[in-house]
Amino acid sequence: MNFDVITIFPDFFAGPLSHGMVFQAQKRGLIDVRIHDLRDFTTDRHRTVDDRPFGGGAGMVLKPEPLFRAIRKIQAEKMASARKVILLTPQGKRFQQRIAFQFSSLDQAVLICGRYEGVDERVTECLVDEELSIGDYVLSGGELAACVFVDAVTRLLPGVLNNSSSAVNESFATLEGSLSSAEGSLLDYPHYTRPEEFEGQRVPEVLLCGSHKRVELWRRKKALEKTLKNRPDLLQYTALSEEDKQLLG
Ligand code: ADE
Repeated sequence: MNFDVITIFPDFFAGPLSHGMVFQAQKRGLIDVRIHDLRDFTTDRHRTVDDRPFGGGAGMVLKPEPLFRAIRKIQAEKMASARKVILLTPQGKRFQQRIAFQFSSLDQAVLICGRYEGVDERVTECLVDEELSIGDYVLSGGELAACVFVDAVTRLLPGVLNNSSSAVNESFATLEGSLSSAEGSLLDYPHYTRPEEFEGQRVPEVLLCGSHKRVELWRRKKALEKTLKNRPDLLQYTALSEEDKQLLG
């Protein structure tokens, strides 16, 4: 899969792209991430990317011309049968695991990192397929959100994670890998590793007992408890069995 990121801070991505799974996926040729400096698509001496909003008000708005040029160049460079142009903005649809799965079937995602007060609406209207927000808070720009998008989508691509089961059990993922939290999912259960005892705190005995059945039941109970404590909103979409209700007490 190809990711093309348009940003005014191209250096921002050096760190996130050179570590862990995203780095390995690039090395193995499973993804290609290209960073485009929006200022390279300006034509004036000052490489101006923003201007004041019509109608007045605070802040600056990303101008349409450099973004149109950048996107058109990226589109012209490659034949992509499944390509989407995505604007990262707090005004977007909430990015969720379900949406990450949908985007993982694309062969090209063009990510526009919004900045300042926003992006000229003509860009959104004419060129953007989807506006995405990574959560209900305002970041200073879309760069972090673009990194979140690349990470969340990359780890779902075939061949990226060796151990597919680790991606299946965890919070928000399901066997089909297609359900969002809002469609029924629990947070992940707690994990422990060695040592068996740390500063007087022992790993729960059930995890050492060797009974697969007891471990499964305990994990289900803990997942239910954690969801009730941290994300009770998710439980309203989850069909709880009689056994689940007993586990919750
Ligand atoms: N840009 C600023 N805030 C954002 C958010 N919450 N999600 C995506 N892009 C953003």
